Amino acid sequence: MKTAIYPGSFDPTTFGHIDIIERASKIFDRLIVGILNNRSKKPLFTVEERVDMLQIVIKDLPNVEIASFSGLLVDFAKACDSHVIVRGLRAITDFEYELQMSQTNHILDAELDTVFLTTDLKYSYLSSTTVREVASFHGDISAFVPEFVEREMRKKFL
Ligand code: PNS
Repeated sequence: MKTAIYPGSFDPTTFGHIDIIERASKIFDRLIVGILNNRSKKPLFTVEERVDMLQIVIKDLPNVEIASFSGLLVDFAKACDSHVIVRGLRAITDFEYELQMSQTNHILDAELDTVFLTTDLKYSYLSSTTVREVASFHGDISAFVPEFVEREMRKKFL
């Protein structure tokens, strides 16, 4: 059985993330979406809130699971018994950071490889950071995130 992990901050989950989850779930037998619980950063959503939102996203994808992790990604991959990391590539500007991360992880664990899925063109501009920014000024984020995420974001910026 081929298990892959799809790690990220998902703060919040966007249509771009959902597109990658759906496509990766067709490539691998089992996909574990790993939400980083970074204690040094102050995310908009708690890790529990992000888990709950992603649970809704994957409710019709039987081979996808949600987990949170802290610490090193290589350790999370080992705990999941996975040798494959999935990441989405939106544009060339993502490449340098992703390459560095992929190579660092491969040095830390030579059995771990990163597979990149190119983001669907209609989401190539989209990032959680810009969604948070637009929402913080009460802008319309309906083109970026599902309705239930939109509702949760509105509560945060009441
Ligand atoms: O959605 P993001 O914020 O681009 O995801 C980044 C993430 C979570 C994949 C990355 O920050 C990560 O793997 N953090 C865990 C710490 C780690 O392993 N760092 C060394 C690899 S460079």
